[in-house]
Amino acid sequence: MTGKGGTGKTTVAAALALALASGGKRTLLVEVEGRQGIAQLFETEALPYEERKIAVAHNGGEVHALAIDPERALLDYLQMFYKLGSAGRALKKLGAIDFATTIAPGLRDVLLTGKACEAVRRRDKNEQRVYDAVVMDAPPTGRIARFLGVNEEVAGLAKVGPVHNQAQAVMRVLKSPETAVHLVTLLEEMPVQETIDGVAELRAAGLPVGAALVNMVRPQLLDEDLLDVAESDGPGRRGGTAELGGELAHALARAGLPHADRLVAPLLTQAREHAERVGLEREQRAELAELGLPVYELGLLGEGIELAGLYQLAADLRDQLPPPREAA
Ligand SMILES: Nc1ncnc2c1ncn2[C@@H]1O[C@H](COP(=O)(O)OP(=O)(O)O)[C@@H](O)[C@H]1O
Ligand SMILES: [Mg+2]
Repeated sequence: MTGKGGTGKTTVAAALALALASGGKRTLLVEVEGRQGIAQLFETEALPYEERKIAVAHNGGEVHALAIDPERALLDYLQMFYKLGSAGRALKKLGAIDFATTIAPGLRDVLLTGKACEAVRRRDKNEQRVYDAVVMDAPPTGRIARFLGVNEEVAGLAKVGPVHNQAQAVMRVLKSPETAVHLVTLLEEMPVQETIDGVAELRAAGLPVGAALVNMVRPQLLDEDLLDVAESDGPGRRGGTAELGGELAHALARAGLPHADRLVAPLLTQAREHAERVGLEREQRAELAELGLPVYELGLLGEGIELAGLYQLAADLRDQLPPPREAA
């Protein structure tokens, strides 16, 4: 899950992990930016670098969560290839890990994607996949192609050997149809433009683009006729609003409101603003439609997202998702 910062990337990733877990499945929600956003969202204490069950989904099913710590991931990685043991702990004390991730900034990303891919491929003793889906709350749109593509660079640098093989294995997962990069957006110009640019970049990098997820969608409050009327108002444009104003005054008076006449002008202004917003949102929807991606919409929840709101978003998503593919 990527998207412009603040559009609801973390929230939507969590909602998707819940939606995909429903009906007795098991999903893993992975965080890579060290912000403990998942713990906050699920109202639990900070996540350690360890997979743990964090929520129960609709109709059974479990969401597990993991906040990947790049330092610990590096130790795992070194352990995997070089059997470091206590030397690893010594390395950690020496600050070698800071050093390594500072001189090779891409290394951090290799470790993060590597860990997530390991969870994707992991099988239990019956050879069954441990997770039906792994959802990553990934870096924002501006960095996503580079982040996911970094193993390709590594595979190119290390031409042979275990590091080369590992990097190639990660890229195989990331570029396979098993992976989908979803983009969260709002119906506003900047995030939509960022989505369009991000999709182009991902496609150029050969990474599989999933869906556009429009978050915080506000309801349309006026029907089409009223929208037309409301929009025709404005300086020098006295369309049907005089008539609408008359109707409003009557309706307000019938409702028994005192000084109903004073409410008419502000209500007409609000109606015009609403009509303008709906118009702009339509333009943004049209832009998104040109990407040729599935588009899912999630409503704006009131007053902060409590856990119940998260389940609501998951239910909204579930209703829009295509039926699950059979596992390969
Ligand atoms: N559908 C929604 N309705 C209302 N508020 C939302 C919705 N989605 C996200 N938010 C709120 O928007 C803010 C940013 O969401 P977050 O998921 O942290 O974004 P990001 O990870 O992209 O920075 C949070 O306060 C979150 O509660
Ligand atoms: Mg976030």
